[in-house]
Amino acid sequence: MKLSIIGTGYVGLVTGACFAKLGHTITCVDIDPEKIKKINNSIPPIYEEGLDCLLSENKEKISATTDYTSVLLHTDVTFLCVGTPSLKDGSIDLSYLKEATKQIAIALKNKKTWHLIVVKSTVLPGTTQNVILPLLEQYSGKKVGQDIGLTMNPEFLKEGVAIQDFLQPDRIVIGFYDDRSRNTLRELYKGFSCPLVETSLSAAEMIKYASNTFLATKISFINEIGNLCKKLRIDTYEVATGMGLDTRIGRPFLDSGIGWGGSCFPKDVNALIAWAKDIKEPTRIIESTKAVNTDQPLRLVKILRKHIPKLKGTTIGILGLAFKPNTDDIRDSRAIPIVEELLREGAHIKAYDPQAMENFKKIYPTIEYAPSASDVLSADAILITTKWKEFTTLPYQGKIIIDGRRIEQAKNAKIYEGVCW
Ligand SMILES: NC(=O)c1ccc[n+]([C@@H]2O[C@H](COP(=O)([O-])OP(=O)(O)OC[C@H]3O[C@@H](n4cnc5c(N)ncnc54)[C@H](O)[C@@H]3O)[C@@H](O)[C@H]2O)c1
Repeated sequence: MKLSIIGTGYVGLVTGACFAKLGHTITCVDIDPEKIKKINNSIPPIYEEGLDCLLSENKEKISATTDYTSVLLHTDVTFLCVGTPSLKDGSIDLSYLKEATKQIAIALKNKKTWHLIVVKSTVLPGTTQNVILPLLEQYSGKKVGQDIGLTMNPEFLKEGVAIQDFLQPDRIVIGFYDDRSRNTLRELYKGFSCPLVETSLSAAEMIKYASNTFLATKISFINEIGNLCKKLRIDTYEVATGMGLDTRIGRPFLDSGIGWGGSCFPKDVNALIAWAKDIKEPTRIIESTKAVNTDQPLRLVKILRKHIPKLKGTTIGILGLAFKPNTDDIRDSRAIPIVEELLREGAHIKAYDPQAMENFKKIYPTIEYAPSASDVLSADAILITTKWKEFTTLPYQGKIIIDGRRIEQAKNAKIYEGVCW
């Protein structure tokens, strides 16, 4: 099929590159001309493992532009993948989505054939039906369900393993407005072996929020258990192994540490809380999930103070700035509140990350960035904040290490303490 992708961030570009690998022809649209230039030169504007190879292997099948009109006329299906970040009050910012929908609809005005719109951006229940559908009809002058098809197809990929997740998902959710749209997506995904879950538009939207807030809750839960375990001198990772073997529970997301960050969990948790407030429903569990996550990274600094009571004037090393390994994404990284706290205390920071330093420099241009991980080890004490593989082979002997991510090899340090162990 001929597919267009609106918004070429982590989700859009991975979606486009993977569908190209599966044989489809892809045109990407973005408002950022730098991204367009890079994609047309087969250079990924983001770091995601394997994406560079996918782009160059499929260069004949992927192109990018800022011009909606020709793209909409010459493709059959359009994936909406623009960002849906948080507003200051935590509620969802739909401005990018509304603008992109409006541009799509204007471009569809002169199209003679049926066109399918697939919402992949994470949006609150009701948004596809009550925000996107009316905009499509208003600006195209056409009828959804007749001239335009509409589906909601949430994305569950994890940054760092996004390509694998996209190509081998646990499930594909298709929320559909009309049968033709559902059948077109069935056809597009027919080579995938996972279950296809077909639902209403708003159930598809809710599945995404329920999944993300559940996973965030699972992490906050095990962090709370980890905090108890630390006090009781119980190994929280032994507890996780014992719990995780229960098939009702499962081992993933039971690694105690300094909490969750990234482009999705924080904003989705916030959006769900804000929306629930609007519809006057309590979200006690989800609010606690968030509260645990706010405190958890600061525990690392509290432990550091036990070993170095006065941080003013000391040099503190930070190993890891990305919100998790194998990405350059620093959105809501747990390193951020830690850096903030250390700066407030007057410490000098020496930080290193294999991929995320350029992004971190945009927010913190004045902290010191080390040329290598081992260079950070010259600091007075070192905090481990991201579980990058290269941090497992460092010479930790003789150092003070406070670990937020359970790097076993760091236990060789002179002084070693973990956030929950
Ligand atoms: N990143 C993830 O791991 C992930 C996983 C699942 C779902 N999601 C959801 O997918 C959506 C996209 O997330 P992301 O991380 O890829 O976002 P991103 O910020 O990396 O990318 C969004 C892109 O959209 C572009 N854009 C903004 N307005 C536009 C417009 N009017 N027309 C064309 N392009 C426009 C931006 O320039 C940017 O390149 C969000 O709703 C997010 O919640 C993200």
